[in-house]
Amino acid sequence: MANLAINHVTKSFGSLAVLNDINIAIEDGEFLVLVGPSGCGKSTLLSIIAGLDEHTSGSITIDGDPVDGLEPKERDIAMVFQSYALYPAMSVEQNIGFSLEMSKMPKAQRLERVSKVADLLQITHLLKRKPGQLSGGQRQRVAMGRALVREPKIFLFDEPLSNLDAKLRVEMRTEIKKLHQRLGATIVYVTHDQIEAMTMATRIAVMKDGILQQFGTPEDIYDRPKNVFVATFMGSPAMNLLPATVVGETLSLKGADAVLPVPASVVAPLTEGREVLLGLRPEWLSLASAGSPSGPSLPLLVEVIEPTGPDVFAALRAGEREIMARLPTGTPVAPGQKASFAIDLSKAILFDAASGVAL
Ligand SMILES: Nc1ncnc2c1ncn2[C@@H]1O[C@H](COP(=O)(O)OP(=O)(O)OP(=O)(O)O)[C@@H](O)[C@H]1O
Ligand SMILES: [Mg+2]
Repeated sequence: MANLAINHVTKSFGSLAVLNDINIAIEDGEFLVLVGPSGCGKSTLLSIIAGLDEHTSGSITIDGDPVDGLEPKERDIAMVFQSYALYPAMSVEQNIGFSLEMSKMPKAQRLERVSKVADLLQITHLLKRKPGQLSGGQRQRVAMGRALVREPKIFLFDEPLSNLDAKLRVEMRTEIKKLHQRLGATIVYVTHDQIEAMTMATRIAVMKDGILQQFGTPEDIYDRPKNVFVATFMGSPAMNLLPATVVGETLSLKGADAVLPVPASVVAPLTEGREVLLGLRPEWLSLASAGSPSGPSLPLLVEVIEPTGPDVFAALRAGEREIMARLPTGTPVAPGQKASFAIDLSKAILFDAASGVAL
């Protein structure tokens, strides 16, 4: 187990810059998730940490010691890839124990370690099988077993669940989280799935176009996004962004013919006439009822209702603006209906309309 620091890391492939001055530091035992759209540089950064690829400038330290220039095997890191890359001719037991065999660990000790890891991953009954005789989820476990058995300082995962079906993904997500809690291992985990990022991470690094957009706890990222990209990338349905103009103590919503008070939590001095985007998460809207306390509300037209089970997503309209709401199942709303929706502005975020940076 170890802490990890990525200091001013830059990477170019020829003239193509894919990582731009990345700075991330995590403590021993943290679960860091690198998240961002396809091509943003997640796998490249992971390969650089592993030593499979070389950075153009900057430095990586593990437990305070620079590892730049060290071979992958000298870094004491284990990596689990999206393609499990198991040896098809070897049994599960041989696959898991292979790295220990290569390092000339005595057989008895090796078998004991493999058995411990198999126990942990609940695959003891599969040890004699070949990878071809396993399901996707079982292969995934074997791939993890192969990393675990080495007892490395840091585990690196590159989209390990993306080949699994939706149900198994959720199960394995919980399994990996449990494993992390049990082992207290330091993990760097790449995904483009924002739910995986939110649920697993102790800290999240959101990347876009090779630039680190924000690095923080899941709560930081969700509640205090630094810009429009982070705000809309994390959360589903995405945060609503409503163009507005500051008028006195209110926000005049453009194209919606409506006015809302400036949220009390907005401390930035807002000058008259400033153009902003009001960020509203879908769960901050609710159907206003006669008994509910008075607060800001908007008259909205219900256009589409999407039941998900516990919640319904409602596409609502105010003039030119579409607003998504997440409502509890059973909320009496129907397409075509006009209703008043209460808006909790206590956590609302304002962004500068031109730069997209949170105010
Ligand atoms: N060997 C290479 N030579 C040139 N360009 C490369 C090389 N490897 C990656 N790239 C480019 O670097 C950028 C980042 O790639 P990377 O694989 O790190 O993205 P990613 O965030 O992991 O994406 P995905 O979610 O699709 O896996 C992409 O534009 C990619 O085309
Ligand atoms: Mg990738």
